[in-house]
Amino acid sequence: MRISKLILALLIFMSLANHAQTSGKAGTFEAGEKAFLLNGKPFLVRAGEIHFPRIPREYWEQRIQMCKAMGMNTICIYLFWNFHEQQPDQFDFTGQKDVAEFVRLVQKNGMYCVVRPGPYVCAEWDMGGLPWWLLKKKDLQVRTSNDSYFMERSLKYLKEVGKQLAPYQIQNGGNIIMVQVENEYGVFGNDLGYMNQIRDAVRASEFDKVQLFRCDWSSNFFKYDVEGVYTALNFGAGSNIDKQFEKYKEIYPKAPLMCSEYWTGWFDYWGRAHETRSISSFIGSLKDMLDRNISFSLYMAHGGTSFGQWGGANSPPFGAMVSSYDYNAPINEAGKPTDKFYAVRDLMKNYLNPGETIPEPPANYPVISIPKITFNESASLFENLPKANKSELIQPMENFDQGWGRILYRTKLPESATSFDIKITDLHDWAAIYINGKLIGNLDRRKDQNTIKLPAAKKGDVLDILVDALGRVNYGKTIIDRKGITEKVEMLVGSTATNLTNWEVFNFPVDYDFQKKMKFKKAKANGPAWYKATFELNSVGDTYIDMSSWGKGMVWVNGYNIGRYWKIGPQQTLFMPGCWLKKGKNKIIILDLEKPKQTQVTGVTVPVLDKIVVDESLLHRKKGEILDLSAETPANQGELSSGQGWKEVIFEKEFEGQYFCFEVLNSQNPKDTSSSIAEIELIGTDGLPVNRSKWKIVYADSEEVSVGNYSAEKIFDQQESTFWSTAWTVSKTPHPHQVVVNMEESVKIKGFKYLPRTDKSTNGNVKNYRFYIKPSSFTIKK
Ligand code: GLA
Ligand code: CA
Repeated sequence: MRISKLILALLIFMSLANHAQTSGKAGTFEAGEKAFLLNGKPFLVRAGEIHFPRIPREYWEQRIQMCKAMGMNTICIYLFWNFHEQQPDQFDFTGQKDVAEFVRLVQKNGMYCVVRPGPYVCAEWDMGGLPWWLLKKKDLQVRTSNDSYFMERSLKYLKEVGKQLAPYQIQNGGNIIMVQVENEYGVFGNDLGYMNQIRDAVRASEFDKVQLFRCDWSSNFFKYDVEGVYTALNFGAGSNIDKQFEKYKEIYPKAPLMCSEYWTGWFDYWGRAHETRSISSFIGSLKDMLDRNISFSLYMAHGGTSFGQWGGANSPPFGAMVSSYDYNAPINEAGKPTDKFYAVRDLMKNYLNPGETIPEPPANYPVISIPKITFNESASLFENLPKANKSELIQPMENFDQGWGRILYRTKLPESATSFDIKITDLHDWAAIYINGKLIGNLDRRKDQNTIKLPAAKKGDVLDILVDALGRVNYGKTIIDRKGITEKVEMLVGSTATNLTNWEVFNFPVDYDFQKKMKFKKAKANGPAWYKATFELNSVGDTYIDMSSWGKGMVWVNGYNIGRYWKIGPQQTLFMPGCWLKKGKNKIIILDLEKPKQTQVTGVTVPVLDKIVVDESLLHRKKGEILDLSAETPANQGELSSGQGWKEVIFEKEFEGQYFCFEVLNSQNPKDTSSSIAEIELIGTDGLPVNRSKWKIVYADSEEVSVGNYSAEKIFDQQESTFWSTAWTVSKTPHPHQVVVNMEESVKIKGFKYLPRTDKSTNGNVKNYRFYIKPSSFTIKK
């Protein structure tokens, strides 16, 4: 009796104490006239964005303190819905997912918090934060109120977020000053009803008092307005600030100005050069904002790591995110300050409020190297098949209740006296094809490969297609991205196509429990396999696991899935947080789908994020090729005006075709021999932009791919901050420059829109051009 009373008293005390923590003094924050008002006084939001799922919980506070030491007064966070609700209705906000604890840490360190709960967030995160299990609904639509299932699930999730975070609104004594509604909706849809419903749902999730906002781009924010919701703009390092806010000031003359995502760097794709943004261009525009009293959030202040399977993808063309989310941000992947960090810190010192000081950066975590670990045990994938699912028709992995990982499809072939093709529709994302256990070859979605040649077959030969799923598309119209094989596999013998049926399907999820069950042997594996080893440590610290002698796969250390690796780079090392290592014995398991050169790893002290061999097959002009336009007549030609922003050209008549060529004759600056284009859209006869989701580059006379990613598909990747540029480092060539696009379907158009690069540089800006469109492709001489 006595004891239970004591426990009760203790419980009451604890709940009070807990409450006391959150109920600091209630305050106010709002978008006032030309300034944000914190407790009624003008306040400049100086935010640094960090994502708690991308940082081990043990390191959260150090990263928050790093942002403070960079002169920030606010932390901006996303929540990823799919991180918290991995199965329907099983919400998890504990441990690494304890967002309320993260927000409390921010408050403890005297900083404010901006919260961006989605439901869609983008962020180079699997499916932009949407849970994969939504895809079990066949006709799923997302980010629209037309799909009642999507809406119902979104609202349910937002309610759970509210339970966690609404108590921390500043008006309740917490530190949350703003909450975002959806994310960059302007570039995706025009269902204003949807935006209104999400706003209402955020409000109904107990975020009843906090200032709401939405974010968009200077080129599209004006397409809609959400009542009662402040509008902020997003743009990248090196932007022209006055230009960015020009139209904004016309439409919202009384609003304070804020860049809610000022991109400090950029993300990386497998197989593409590492992205960086120079300190000078980044600092230049940041200073411009400070001089104009413009609030900002640095995206990312510290990017961290997309551990496990969480990295996303973009399309078209398909490109999947690497595991590192270093982002070339001021605070690097391991939480250490970079030169960019000190540049921000030094700049901020000139813009502090009277009496304000910037604290010293917190101590860094120790870094260790790990001597060679050799893997003596392996478990062949084909000898460790889980129980098979039977399926008459081929189906994507979501239909087998699998979220991520690898999936093996097996069937028996009919007889074919001649060699034949196997065609996969659609392959998501990479496959190894075997006949009777023998590897025939690989197919790669990044290269639009979907067909492979096979030798003559006997009846009953076993066809195995092992598919590796990379990240789900997180941006744009192609976000419905089911994994595995989505539709069918055909056997093409001469002109007859047979749809293969009667599949056995084996699922290889990413959970650690699944990997550790494999039957390991003291032998070298041949083909896809798990490898296991243990290693001893006298002291722990952060390190980078060097994967450069391995093929393609995933790594688990002490049960933590530290991410994907792929020999094509540019990332060659995986960040291994010291807090997940142990003094004494540690365990490592690697699943490799190819054949490693050497089955060993080391831990190195410096990351390798930029080692890539330029893949010639990804260039859009093979050696010796030359586009021949001599027999073509342009549909339109003319001169474009100088200066930034979209430029629209309407033709005198309508044209139809599947292929177009944009030819640049000269640049705005007569001395400039290069060309660059951020985006091209075609205007349909209905006045709407033509769907670009299947576009492919057929030819580009020149591409800069050695110092960054300026390849030709940047003209339709829907990112205004990325652009195609002809080479400016090596093999520069003079005008004219041309790019040819296959739209994969015939379209009727009445004009086009061109967006020059959106940073401050005007290099390559197009002046005179010719535009060609026709039903068949252009002549390319070899
Ligand atoms: C947009 C999105 C972010 C992120 C960045 C690019 O601004 O809102 O989530 O995807 O692009 O890193
Ligand atoms: Ca672009």
